[in-house]
Amino acid sequence: MDGITDVVFRQVLSTIAPPDIYFTEFVSAEGISRGGVRLYDQLLYRSNQRPIVGQIFGKDPESFYKSAIILCHLGFDGIDLNMGCPAKTVTQHGSGAALIEKPALASNLIKSAQKGIKDYFSSKVSITDLGLKNASLAIINRNLLYSEYLPQKKSPPTFSVKTRLGINEDVSQQWIPFLLSHKLDFLTLHGRTLKQGYSGSADWEAIYQASVLAKSQHTPFLGNGDISSLSQAQQFIKDYDLNGVLIGRSSMGNPWIFSDIIPTLPQKFSAMLLHAQIFEKTFPHRRFDPLRKHFLLYTSGHPRAKQLRQKIVRLNSLKELLDLEADYLNC
Ligand SMILES: Cc1cc2nc3c(=O)[nH]c(=O)nc-3n(C[C@H](O)[C@H](O)[C@H](O)COP(=O)(O)O)c2cc1C
Repeated sequence: MDGITDVVFRQVLSTIAPPDIYFTEFVSAEGISRGGVRLYDQLLYRSNQRPIVGQIFGKDPESFYKSAIILCHLGFDGIDLNMGCPAKTVTQHGSGAALIEKPALASNLIKSAQKGIKDYFSSKVSITDLGLKNASLAIINRNLLYSEYLPQKKSPPTFSVKTRLGINEDVSQQWIPFLLSHKLDFLTLHGRTLKQGYSGSADWEAIYQASVLAKSQHTPFLGNGDISSLSQAQQFIKDYDLNGVLIGRSSMGNPWIFSDIIPTLPQKFSAMLLHAQIFEKTFPHRRFDPLRKHFLLYTSGHPRAKQLRQKIVRLNSLKELLDLEADYLNC
């Protein structure tokens, strides 16, 4: 999730309750294939965060070809194409969920990325053939070192798509078979339309109907939307006959989501500290600000959340967070 599941948060998750599979935040295919150095922070992962799927979005087939090669080189276990993001900043450019009404382009993007994977693994093309500047190649090497990954051509990453039911209405009975015709390794469906954004509730009956289509094509299928606990995830996998589910918002401020643990306040505060420590170690030159939104999330449900929030929005350092401990634990 953009702005949430960065390498730091995933490290907190992997320490507290690791999921079966990790996804990066979505990253602009155009951006990384142009060598946008800062975007490579979003592709950082630790070697214990596996299997790891790198998610890309965009609308330019050539960029998808190049991005697939870059992600193969970086050692991702999977590459996922985002056809589900409803944010205006993404859809107004024709990317994310807007692709649902542009099947020809969507097809082109899928085929370009699949070709990138194939060309990389058949040694037809290598990272140095992409015309990237030295600064971009250097940052790619930094990522490799960080992930402790030595580029090798052992097994290609999976290639998958994550999408929604439709734009204004549910067209999944037409859209899903179209996607399935592209020989995907798996497909994820969030049970809402673009128009719905995050409102209403996910339509799990539509997810089930789509899963039947996926089964007929032998394509593993994941459902997504509104899952709030591990036991609900397990129940839904059974009830809707799925290969798995993805959990998004319920993980925010809640790295226990992939376990049955109900955290105590001291455990929550320890997780905040861990989060801040990993952040400082990973990005020592970054300001503390982006952490505040995570801390606000960790505070949700706290009996004195309102008072704490007023302090959290002003936090600027690990030391200031430590100073908050007594306040946080004293209810
Ligand atoms: C802040 C935020 C950022 C998100 N970023 C992404 C993203 O980068 N890629 C993606 O596939 N979905 C993204 N999503 C959507 C979620 O992955 C998920 O599909 C959606 O929230 C429904 O599932 P949930 O009810 O489990 O959260 C984002 C959602 C939120 C709230």
